[in-house]
Amino acid sequence: MEHPLSRFYVQPGGLLQGKLRVPGDKSISHRAVMLGAIANGVTHVSGFLEGQDCVATLNAFRAMGVEIEGPAQSQLVIHGVSKAGLKRPQKPLDMGNSGTSMRLLAGLLIGQNFPVTLTGDPSLSRRPMSRIVVPLGRMGAMIESSAEGTPPLIIKPVVELKAIDYDMPVASAQVKSSILLAGLYAKGTTCVTEPMPTRDHTERMLSCFGYRVDRQGNQVCLAGDGQLIGSSINVPADISSAAFFMVGAAIAEGSKLLLQHVGINPTRTGVIDILRLMGAKIELRNMTSTGGEPVADIWVESARLRGIEIPLHLVPLAIDEFPAIFIAAACATGQTVLKGAQELRVKESDRLKVMAEGLQTCGITAEHTPDGMTIHGGQIRGGRVHSYGDHRIAMAFAIAGLKAAQPLTVEDAQNVNTSFPGFLSAAERVGLRISAPH
Ligand code: S3P
Repeated sequence: MEHPLSRFYVQPGGLLQGKLRVPGDKSISHRAVMLGAIANGVTHVSGFLEGQDCVATLNAFRAMGVEIEGPAQSQLVIHGVSKAGLKRPQKPLDMGNSGTSMRLLAGLLIGQNFPVTLTGDPSLSRRPMSRIVVPLGRMGAMIESSAEGTPPLIIKPVVELKAIDYDMPVASAQVKSSILLAGLYAKGTTCVTEPMPTRDHTERMLSCFGYRVDRQGNQVCLAGDGQLIGSSINVPADISSAAFFMVGAAIAEGSKLLLQHVGINPTRTGVIDILRLMGAKIELRNMTSTGGEPVADIWVESARLRGIEIPLHLVPLAIDEFPAIFIAAACATGQTVLKGAQELRVKESDRLKVMAEGLQTCGITAEHTPDGMTIHGGQIRGGRVHSYGDHRIAMAFAIAGLKAAQPLTVEDAQNVNTSFPGFLSAAERVGLRISAPH
Protein backbone atom coordinates (compact mmCIF):
# COMPACT_ATOMS: atom_id res chain seq x y z
CA MET A 1 0.00 0.00 0.00
CA GLU A 2 1.21 3.48 -0.79
CA HIS A 3 2.34 5.54 2.17
CA PRO A 4 -0.21 8.37 2.53
CA LEU A 5 2.49 11.02 2.69
CA SER A 6 4.76 9.64 0.01
CA ARG A 7 3.92 12.44 -2.39
CA PHE A 8 2.66 16.03 -2.30
CA TYR A 9 0.46 17.61 -4.97
CA VAL A 10 0.71 21.38 -5.01
CA GLN A 11 -1.62 23.56 -7.03
CA PRO A 12 0.05 26.70 -8.35
CA GLY A 13 -0.38 30.14 -6.83
CA GLY A 14 -1.90 31.42 -3.61
CA LEU A 15 -0.43 33.39 -0.76
CA LEU A 16 0.32 32.83 2.93
CA GLN A 17 -1.52 34.61 5.67
CA GLY A 18 -2.50 34.30 9.31
CA LYS A 19 -0.57 32.96 12.28
CA LEU A 20 1.34 29.74 12.63
CA ARG A 21 3.31 28.07 15.38
CA VAL A 22 5.48 25.40 13.79
CA PRO A 23 6.55 22.37 15.90
CA GLY A 24 9.39 22.41 18.41
CA ASP A 25 13.05 22.80 17.61
CA LYS A 26 14.62 19.51 16.59
CA SER A 27 18.12 20.23 17.89
CA ILE A 28 16.86 21.43 21.26
CA SER A 29 14.39 18.52 21.59
CA HIS A 30 17.15 15.93 21.07
CA ARG A 31 19.36 17.60 23.65
CA ALA A 32 16.55 17.90 26.22
CA VAL A 33 16.06 14.12 26.13
CA MET A 34 19.78 13.34 26.25
CA LEU A 35 20.63 15.67 29.12
CA GLY A 36 17.39 14.93 31.00
CA ALA A 37 18.15 11.20 30.83
CA ILE A 38 21.62 11.50 32.41
CA ALA A 39 20.66 14.19 34.94
CA ASN A 40 19.97 13.60 38.63
CA GLY A 41 16.25 14.09 39.20
CA VAL A 42 13.27 14.85 37.02
CA THR A 43 13.24 17.02 33.87
CA HIS A 44 10.04 18.51 32.45
CA VAL A 45 10.04 19.31 28.74
CA SER A 46 7.35 21.29 26.93
CA GLY A 47 7.18 22.06 23.21
CA PHE A 48 9.00 18.78 22.43
CA LEU A 49 9.13 17.93 18.73
CA GLU A 50 7.19 14.68 18.24
CA GLY A 51 8.94 14.01 14.93
CA GLN A 52 10.52 10.68 14.06
CA ASP A 53 14.09 11.92 14.60
CA CYS A 54 13.51 13.02 18.19
CA VAL A 55 11.38 9.94 18.88
CA ALA A 56 14.41 7.84 17.81
CA THR A 57 16.44 9.57 20.53
CA LEU A 58 13.63 9.08 23.03
CA ASN A 59 13.31 5.36 22.25
CA ALA A 60 17.07 4.91 22.56
CA PHE A 61 17.02 6.19 26.15
CA ARG A 62 13.96 4.11 26.99
CA ALA A 63 15.86 1.08 25.70
CA MET A 64 18.66 2.05 28.10
CA GLY A 65 16.31 1.96 31.09
CA VAL A 66 15.23 5.60 31.37
CA GLU A 67 11.61 6.15 32.31
CA ILE A 68 10.10 8.85 30.10
CA GLU A 69 6.42 9.87 30.33
CA GLY A 70 4.86 11.21 27.14
CA PRO A 71 5.01 12.73 24.68
CA ALA A 72 1.54 14.04 25.50
CA GLN A 73 0.68 17.40 23.94
CA SER A 74 4.40 17.83 23.29
CA GLN A 75 5.26 17.39 26.96
CA LEU A 76 7.70 14.92 28.47
CA VAL A 77 8.64 13.99 32.00
CA ILE A 78 12.08 12.40 32.06
CA HIS A 79 13.17 10.53 35.17
CA GLY A 80 16.91 11.06 35.01
CA VAL A 81 19.13 8.15 35.98
CA SER A 82 22.36 10.17 36.54
CA LYS A 83 25.47 10.05 34.39
CA ALA A 84 26.30 6.51 35.46
CA GLY A 85 22.76 5.10 35.44
CA LEU A 86 22.15 4.02 31.84
CA LYS A 87 21.67 0.29 31.24
CA ARG A 88 22.79 -1.97 28.42
CA PRO A 89 20.09 -2.08 25.70
CA GLN A 90 18.82 -5.49 24.56
CA LYS A 91 19.22 -4.68 20.85
CA PRO A 92 21.04 -2.25 18.55
CA LEU A 93 19.67 1.29 18.87
CA ASP A 94 17.97 2.39 15.64
CA MET A 95 18.58 6.08 14.91
CA GLY A 96 16.36 6.04 11.80
CA ASN A 97 17.07 9.07 9.59
CA SER A 98 18.66 11.13 12.35
CA GLY A 99 22.30 12.20 12.08
CA THR A 100 21.99 14.24 15.28
CA SER A 101 20.86 11.18 17.26
CA MET A 102 23.69 9.04 15.98
CA ARG A 103 26.54 11.53 16.33
CA LEU A 104 25.55 12.96 19.71
CA LEU A 105 24.66 9.57 21.19
CA ALA A 106 27.96 8.08 20.05
CA GLY A 107 29.76 10.73 22.11
CA LEU A 108 27.58 10.12 25.13
CA LEU A 109 27.80 6.33 24.89
CA ILE A 110 31.57 5.86 24.63
CA GLY A 111 31.71 6.62 28.36
CA GLN A 112 29.31 3.83 29.39
CA ASN A 113 30.32 0.49 30.84
CA PHE A 114 28.39 -1.59 28.27
CA PRO A 115 28.68 -2.27 24.53
CA VAL A 116 26.13 -0.76 22.17
CA THR A 117 25.49 -0.65 18.42
CA LEU A 118 23.94 2.30 16.59
CA THR A 119 22.18 1.71 13.27
CA GLY A 120 20.24 3.90 10.84
CA ASP A 121 18.09 3.95 7.71
CA PRO A 122 19.66 3.79 4.22
CA SER A 123 20.24 7.59 4.12
CA LEU A 124 21.90 7.73 7.55
CA SER A 125 23.89 4.60 6.69
CA ARG A 126 25.61 6.57 3.91
CA ARG A 127 26.56 9.58 6.06
CA PRO A 128 30.14 10.21 7.26
CA MET A 129 30.92 9.21 10.84
CA SER A 130 34.74 9.47 10.75
CA ARG A 131 34.35 13.09 11.79
CA ILE A 132 33.31 11.80 15.24
CA VAL A 133 35.01 8.39 15.26
CA VAL A 134 38.47 9.99 14.89
CA PRO A 135 38.28 12.54 17.75
CA LEU A 136 36.34 10.15 20.03
CA GLY A 137 39.07 7.58 19.31
CA ARG A 138 41.64 10.09 20.53
CA MET A 139 39.73 10.20 23.80
CA GLY A 140 40.27 6.44 24.08
CA ALA A 141 36.95 5.24 22.67
CA MET A 142 36.61 1.93 20.87
CA ILE A 143 34.25 2.49 17.95
CA GLU A 144 34.02 0.44 14.78
CA SER A 145 32.36 1.74 11.65
CA SER A 146 32.31 0.40 8.08
CA ALA A 147 35.51 0.65 6.03
CA GLU A 148 34.07 3.82 4.46
CA GLY A 149 33.54 5.37 7.89
CA THR A 150 29.75 4.98 7.77
CA PRO A 151 27.24 3.35 10.19
CA PRO A 152 26.55 1.05 11.90
CA LEU A 153 28.71 2.17 14.81
CA ILE A 154 29.79 -0.57 17.21
CA ILE A 155 30.87 0.90 20.53
CA LYS A 156 32.79 -1.14 23.12
CA PRO A 157 33.29 -0.08 26.73
CA VAL A 158 36.72 1.22 27.82
CA VAL A 159 38.22 1.62 31.28
CA GLU A 160 38.85 5.33 31.04
CA LEU A 161 38.30 8.23 28.65
CA LYS A 162 40.81 11.04 28.53
CA ALA A 163 40.00 14.66 27.84
CA ILE A 164 41.22 16.16 24.56
CA ASP A 165 41.73 19.59 23.10
CA TYR A 166 40.22 19.31 19.65
CA ASP A 167 40.49 21.70 16.72
CA MET A 168 37.53 20.83 14.50
CA PRO A 169 38.35 20.69 10.78
CA VAL A 170 34.65 21.17 9.82
CA ALA A 171 32.21 23.67 11.30
CA SER A 172 29.79 21.12 12.77
CA ALA A 173 27.63 21.44 15.87
CA GLN A 174 27.09 17.69 15.81
CA VAL A 175 30.82 17.00 16.07
CA LYS A 176 31.28 19.67 18.75
CA SER A 177 28.36 18.29 20.76
CA SER A 178 29.48 14.68 20.39
CA ILE A 179 32.89 15.53 21.86
CA LEU A 180 31.41 17.66 24.66
CA LEU A 181 29.01 14.86 25.65
CA ALA A 182 31.96 12.44 25.69
CA GLY A 183 33.82 15.04 27.75
CA LEU A 184 31.19 14.65 30.49
CA TYR A 185 32.67 11.19 31.06
CA ALA A 186 36.37 11.97 30.51
CA LYS A 187 39.16 12.53 32.99
CA GLY A 188 40.24 16.15 32.79
CA THR A 189 38.99 19.12 30.79
CA THR A 190 37.80 18.63 27.21
CA CYS A 191 38.01 21.60 24.83
CA VAL A 192 36.66 22.00 21.30
CA THR A 193 37.61 24.85 18.97
CA GLU A 194 35.41 25.51 15.95
CA PRO A 195 36.55 27.11 12.68
CA MET A 196 33.33 29.16 12.53
CA PRO A 197 30.50 29.53 15.07
CA THR A 198 27.90 26.73 14.91
CA ARG A 199 24.68 26.21 16.87
CA ASP A 200 25.40 26.27 20.59
CA HIS A 201 22.33 24.57 22.04
CA THR A 202 24.41 21.91 23.82
CA GLU A 203 26.46 24.52 25.66
CA ARG A 204 23.38 26.56 26.61
CA MET A 205 21.42 23.55 27.78
CA LEU A 206 24.29 22.14 29.83
CA SER A 207 24.26 25.44 31.73
CA CYS A 208 20.48 25.02 32.29
CA PHE A 209 21.25 21.62 33.87
CA GLY A 210 23.72 23.31 36.20
CA TYR A 211 26.80 22.01 34.38
CA ARG A 212 29.71 24.39 34.06
CA VAL A 213 30.77 25.21 30.50
CA ASP A 214 33.49 27.75 29.73
CA ARG A 215 33.40 29.57 26.43
CA GLN A 216 36.11 31.82 25.11
CA GLY A 217 35.96 32.98 21.50
CA ASN A 218 35.61 29.91 19.31
CA GLN A 219 36.59 27.51 22.10
CA VAL A 220 34.28 25.61 24.50
CA CYS A 221 35.59 23.63 27.48
CA LEU A 222 34.08 21.44 30.17
CA ALA A 223 35.44 19.18 32.90
CA GLY A 224 34.35 15.57 33.30
CA ASP A 225 33.75 15.55 37.03
CA GLY A 226 30.39 17.34 37.30
CA GLN A 227 26.78 16.22 37.64
CA LEU A 228 23.67 17.44 35.82
CA ILE A 229 20.64 18.52 37.81
CA GLY A 230 17.15 17.88 36.39
CA SER A 231 15.67 20.99 34.80
CA SER A 232 12.65 22.41 33.04
CA ILE A 233 13.00 23.02 29.31
CA ASN A 234 10.56 24.92 27.13
CA VAL A 235 11.40 24.16 23.50
CA PRO A 236 10.72 27.05 21.10
CA ALA A 237 9.36 26.52 17.58
CA ASP A 238 12.01 25.41 15.10
CA ILE A 239 13.41 28.21 12.94
CA SER A 240 14.40 25.53 10.41
CA SER A 241 10.72 24.59 9.98
CA ALA A 242 9.62 28.23 10.11
CA ALA A 243 12.09 28.96 7.27
CA PHE A 244 9.85 27.31 4.66
CA PHE A 245 7.03 29.67 5.59
CA MET A 246 9.35 32.68 5.79
CA VAL A 247 10.38 32.00 2.21
CA GLY A 248 6.79 31.25 1.14
CA ALA A 249 5.49 34.54 2.57
CA ALA A 250 8.44 36.44 1.08
CA ILE A 251 7.89 35.13 -2.48
CA ALA A 252 4.08 34.99 -2.72
CA GLU A 253 2.67 38.42 -3.47
CA GLY A 254 0.16 39.73 -0.92
CA SER A 255 1.37 37.41 1.88
CA LYS A 256 1.43 38.54 5.51
CA LEU A 257 2.34 35.84 8.01
CA LEU A 258 3.17 35.69 11.70
CA LEU A 259 5.33 32.77 12.83
CA GLN A 260 4.95 32.44 16.57
CA HIS A 261 7.42 31.73 19.37
CA VAL A 262 10.34 30.82 17.10
CA GLY A 263 13.83 30.17 18.47
CA ILE A 264 16.13 32.95 17.28
CA ASN A 265 19.40 31.79 18.77
CA PRO A 266 22.02 33.88 16.88
CA THR A 267 23.76 30.67 15.75
CA ARG A 268 20.57 29.78 13.82
CA THR A 269 19.36 33.04 12.29
CA GLY A 270 21.45 33.05 9.10
CA VAL A 271 18.25 32.49 7.11
CA ILE A 272 16.80 35.78 8.36
CA ASP A 273 20.01 37.64 7.49
CA ILE A 274 20.20 36.07 4.02
CA LEU A 275 16.55 36.74 3.18
CA ARG A 276 16.88 40.33 4.39
CA LEU A 277 19.96 40.80 2.19
CA MET A 278 17.76 39.58 -0.70
CA GLY A 279 15.22 42.29 0.13
CA ALA A 280 12.74 40.33 2.27
CA LYS A 281 10.56 42.20 4.77
CA ILE A 282 11.04 40.40 8.07
CA GLU A 283 10.41 41.81 11.54
CA LEU A 284 11.10 40.25 14.92
CA ARG A 285 8.39 40.93 17.50
CA ASN A 286 7.83 40.05 21.17
CA MET A 287 11.45 39.13 21.77
CA THR A 288 11.95 37.19 24.98
CA SER A 289 13.88 34.15 26.15
CA THR A 290 13.10 30.70 27.50
CA GLY A 291 15.40 28.03 28.90
CA GLY A 292 18.48 30.00 27.93
CA GLU A 293 17.30 30.41 24.33
CA PRO A 294 16.06 33.66 22.73
CA VAL A 295 12.63 33.50 21.02
CA ALA A 296 10.46 35.89 19.02
CA ASP A 297 7.46 36.07 16.73
CA ILE A 298 8.60 36.49 13.14
CA TRP A 299 6.50 38.71 10.87
CA VAL A 300 7.01 38.29 7.13
CA GLU A 301 5.46 40.21 4.24
CA SER A 302 5.97 39.58 0.56
CA ALA A 303 8.63 41.63 -1.18
CA ARG A 304 10.60 41.76 -4.41
CA LEU A 305 13.68 39.63 -3.88
CA ARG A 306 17.03 40.10 -5.60
CA GLY A 307 19.87 37.64 -6.09
CA ILE A 308 22.93 38.00 -3.86
CA GLU A 309 26.33 36.50 -3.11
CA ILE A 310 25.69 34.75 0.18
CA PRO A 311 28.28 35.87 2.77
CA LEU A 312 30.52 32.99 3.82
CA HIS A 313 30.13 33.58 7.56
CA LEU A 314 26.36 33.00 7.28
CA VAL A 315 26.73 29.50 5.82
CA PRO A 316 26.97 27.52 9.11
CA LEU A 317 24.29 29.76 10.61
CA ALA A 318 21.80 28.77 7.89
CA ILE A 319 23.08 25.27 7.13
CA ASP A 320 19.68 23.54 7.25
CA GLU A 321 17.81 26.34 5.50
CA PHE A 322 19.48 26.26 2.09
CA PRO A 323 16.79 24.16 0.38
CA ALA A 324 14.29 26.92 1.31
CA ILE A 325 16.77 29.71 0.48
CA PHE A 326 17.34 28.18 -2.98
CA ILE A 327 13.61 28.53 -3.67
CA ALA A 328 13.82 32.21 -2.67
CA ALA A 329 16.78 32.55 -5.06
CA ALA A 330 14.78 30.90 -7.85
CA CYS A 331 12.09 33.56 -7.37
CA ALA A 332 14.52 36.50 -7.11
CA THR A 333 15.67 38.84 -9.85
CA GLY A 334 19.24 38.08 -10.94
CA GLN A 335 21.79 35.60 -9.76
CA THR A 336 22.40 34.10 -6.32
CA VAL A 337 25.76 32.50 -5.59
CA LEU A 338 26.52 30.21 -2.66
CA LYS A 339 30.07 29.07 -1.84
CA GLY A 340 31.70 27.31 1.12
CA ALA A 341 28.75 24.96 1.61
CA GLN A 342 30.22 21.54 0.76
CA GLU A 343 28.62 20.25 3.99
CA LEU A 344 25.30 20.29 2.11
CA ARG A 345 26.54 17.26 0.17
CA VAL A 346 26.45 15.06 3.30
CA LYS A 347 23.06 15.93 4.75
CA GLU A 348 19.99 13.67 4.51
CA SER A 349 20.66 13.85 0.75
CA ASP A 350 23.27 15.63 -1.38
CA ARG A 351 21.31 18.87 -1.12
CA LEU A 352 23.34 20.71 -3.77
CA LYS A 353 22.79 18.03 -6.41
CA VAL A 354 19.20 17.25 -5.51
CA MET A 355 18.09 20.90 -5.33
CA ALA A 356 19.84 21.74 -8.63
CA GLU A 357 18.11 18.79 -10.28
CA GLY A 358 14.68 19.78 -8.93
CA LEU A 359 15.10 23.43 -9.87
CA GLN A 360 16.15 22.47 -13.40
CA THR A 361 13.05 20.26 -13.66
CA CYS A 362 11.03 23.36 -12.77
CA GLY A 363 12.68 25.34 -15.57
CA ILE A 364 15.12 27.32 -13.40
CA THR A 365 18.76 27.72 -14.39
CA ALA A 366 20.67 26.26 -11.46
CA GLU A 367 24.16 24.72 -11.40
CA HIS A 368 25.77 23.05 -8.44
CA THR A 369 29.48 23.57 -7.91
CA PRO A 370 31.76 21.47 -5.65
CA ASP A 371 31.01 23.71 -2.66
CA GLY A 372 27.86 25.57 -3.57
CA MET A 373 25.30 26.61 -6.13
CA THR A 374 24.52 29.31 -8.67
CA ILE A 375 20.86 30.07 -9.33
CA HIS A 376 19.36 32.49 -11.86
CA GLY A 377 15.95 33.67 -10.78
CA GLY A 378 13.13 32.96 -13.23
CA GLN A 379 9.65 31.49 -13.62
CA ILE A 380 9.06 28.21 -11.80
CA ARG A 381 7.19 26.00 -14.26
CA GLY A 382 5.91 23.13 -12.19
CA GLY A 383 6.33 19.42 -12.92
CA ARG A 384 7.43 16.38 -10.96
CA VAL A 385 10.40 16.75 -8.61
CA HIS A 386 12.09 14.14 -6.45
CA SER A 387 13.02 14.84 -2.85
CA TYR A 388 15.06 11.62 -2.52
CA GLY A 389 13.52 11.05 0.90
CA ASP A 390 14.96 14.31 2.24
CA HIS A 391 12.39 16.12 4.41
CA ARG A 392 13.75 19.61 3.77
CA ILE A 393 13.91 19.14 -0.02
CA ALA A 394 10.27 18.00 -0.01
CA MET A 395 9.09 21.01 2.01
CA ALA A 396 11.15 23.46 -0.06
CA PHE A 397 9.56 22.32 -3.32
CA ALA A 398 6.10 22.28 -1.74
CA ILE A 399 6.56 25.98 -0.95
CA ALA A 400 7.81 26.63 -4.49
CA GLY A 401 4.27 25.80 -5.64
CA LEU A 402 3.23 29.30 -4.51
CA LYS A 403 5.11 30.73 -7.49
CA ALA A 404 4.72 27.87 -9.96
CA ALA A 405 2.92 28.31 -13.27
CA GLN A 406 1.63 24.71 -13.34
CA PRO A 407 0.92 22.03 -10.69
CA LEU A 408 3.89 20.57 -8.90
CA THR A 409 4.26 17.00 -7.64
CA VAL A 410 6.86 16.31 -4.96
CA GLU A 411 7.85 12.64 -4.78
CA ASP A 412 9.14 10.68 -1.79
CA ALA A 413 7.90 13.16 0.81
CA GLN A 414 7.21 10.74 3.71
CA ASN A 415 10.29 11.83 5.68
CA VAL A 416 8.73 15.24 6.31
CA ASN A 417 7.57 13.51 9.50
CA THR A 418 11.15 13.33 10.75
CA SER A 419 11.21 17.05 11.52
CA PHE A 420 7.75 18.49 10.80
CA PRO A 421 4.78 16.26 11.63
CA GLY A 422 1.64 18.06 10.46
CA PHE A 423 3.42 20.03 7.72
CA LEU A 424 0.69 19.42 5.19
CA SER A 425 -2.17 20.65 7.37
CA ALA A 426 -0.14 23.61 8.69
CA ALA A 427 0.77 24.63 5.14
CA GLU A 428 -2.82 24.26 3.97
CA ARG A 429 -4.13 26.29 6.90
CA VAL A 430 -2.02 29.35 5.99
CA GLY A 431 -2.81 29.17 2.27
CA LEU A 432 -0.69 26.62 0.39
CA ARG A 433 -2.81 24.58 -2.05
CA ILE A 434 -1.33 21.25 -1.08
CA SER A 435 -2.68 17.71 -0.81
CA ALA A 436 -1.46 14.13 -0.59
CA PRO A 437 -2.93 10.92 -2.07
CA HIS A 438 -5.48 9.23 0.18
C1 S3P B 1 22.49 19.81 14.12
C2 S3P B 1 23.60 20.30 13.49
C3 S3P B 1 23.70 20.46 12.04
C4 S3P B 1 22.35 20.36 11.36
C5 S3P B 1 21.49 19.26 11.88
C6 S3P B 1 21.27 19.42 13.37
C7 S3P B 1 22.49 19.67 15.59
O1 S3P B 1 24.53 19.44 11.52
O2 S3P B 1 22.51 20.20 9.96
O3 S3P B 1 20.23 19.26 11.24
O4 S3P B 1 21.41 19.51 16.18
O5 S3P B 1 23.58 19.75 16.18
P1 S3P B 1 26.12 19.65 11.43
O6 S3P B 1 26.56 19.99 12.77
O7 S3P B 1 26.67 18.34 10.96
O8 S3P B 1 26.31 20.75 10.43
